[in-house]
Amino acid sequence: MQIEKGGFKHFMLKEIMEQPVALENCMRGRVKQLVGPPDNQFTLLQRLQVLLSLEREILTSFQSAKRIIICACGTSWHAGLVGEYMLESLCKIPVEIEYASEFRYRSVVLRPDEDIVMVISQSGETADTLAALRHAKQAGCLVIGICNTVGSTIARETDGGIYLHAGPEIGVASTKAFTAQVLVLAMLALRIAQGRTIPDDEYKMLVKELSKLPSRITKILSENEAKICEIAKVYRYAHHCLFLGRGYNYPVALEGALKMKEISYIHAEGYPAAEMKHGPIALIDNLMPVVFIAMQDSIYDKVKSNIMEVRARKGCVIAITDEGNTELESLCEYVIHIPKVSECVSPILTVVPLQLLSYHIAVMRGCDVDMPRNLAKSVTTE
Ligand code: G6P
Repeated sequence: MQIEKGGFKHFMLKEIMEQPVALENCMRGRVKQLVGPPDNQFTLLQRLQVLLSLEREILTSFQSAKRIIICACGTSWHAGLVGEYMLESLCKIPVEIEYASEFRYRSVVLRPDEDIVMVISQSGETADTLAALRHAKQAGCLVIGICNTVGSTIARETDGGIYLHAGPEIGVASTKAFTAQVLVLAMLALRIAQGRTIPDDEYKMLVKELSKLPSRITKILSENEAKICEIAKVYRYAHHCLFLGRGYNYPVALEGALKMKEISYIHAEGYPAAEMKHGPIALIDNLMPVVFIAMQDSIYDKVKSNIMEVRARKGCVIAITDEGNTELESLCEYVIHIPKVSECVSPILTVVPLQLLSYHIAVMRGCDVDMPRNLAKSVTTE
């Protein structure tokens, strides 16, 4: 049964480890190789497609939307932030990301003819997200949901949507739901962009990247756990911790910090790496672990100079970077290598070592990982 721990010590660890399967299930029937008569003209790559079964009217609405407003809470909000970057970059549609609790109480200008509101919720029951959905519907907007729990209130009340199919998530700290949410947003962005706003080659390359995600996560999980345990042992008594990333990996920095504080009770902040100069840099000393997501993407050189700034202040740097990148070793206490991947889908991989790091630190500190104090899996009250 999926709701048993299956030999793992905690649900959270089980859910981290089952991400390859969860993502496989999330893509099942959606990212596939087109079957048909053999045709030498088409390579395997050309036959991979995203076949997200969105109703035609919904797809048309997305393609003609002037703006998409994403509302969510917690980890789902972080996935939504990645979604904002993806939809703007791949689909060229302006996107706003809103905390559901703010959206519902401030005077957001909603234009039903131009705006689509998208709500993201693992449980489908979060009170603020549900209220945001109702508010948007009342204003006459089309509301689309991305949920994990089939038949949940949010799933039932939206005009249409996409399920994660990631399986039940029991651990209070969300893990597989985040990676599946980002995957669904990537599939959606590709579906909207296909033949319109991205070149065919880029589309095919990205679909192929999606299909490889499960095996790449398996690799990260099997190759890095020992090193992550070692890092956890060294930093388990830290009082504060900083997570920094830029571009697509800024939301991952936020998510890494959230995981850390949720389950280990270490004060952690996530920041866009360059914003560090405007505050967090004052906190850095030789006791402060600073986790950088430093993939070799379009903004890598900038992130590298941010790492140097931290080093100059004696901060202890832990970096997540691409396999084969050896130049960070001399600048960092620890470097975790993960498979190279396209920038826009990299959050699905870069978050995985951060999940494991917070998990192991929390276990070593004797925290109740699955039921952290004061938190609930689903917040159904305001
Ligand atoms: C709670 C949970 C988080 C979750 C958030 C939003 O705070 O502890 O893990 O991200 O609610 O939940 P939802 O079910 O709407 O995604």
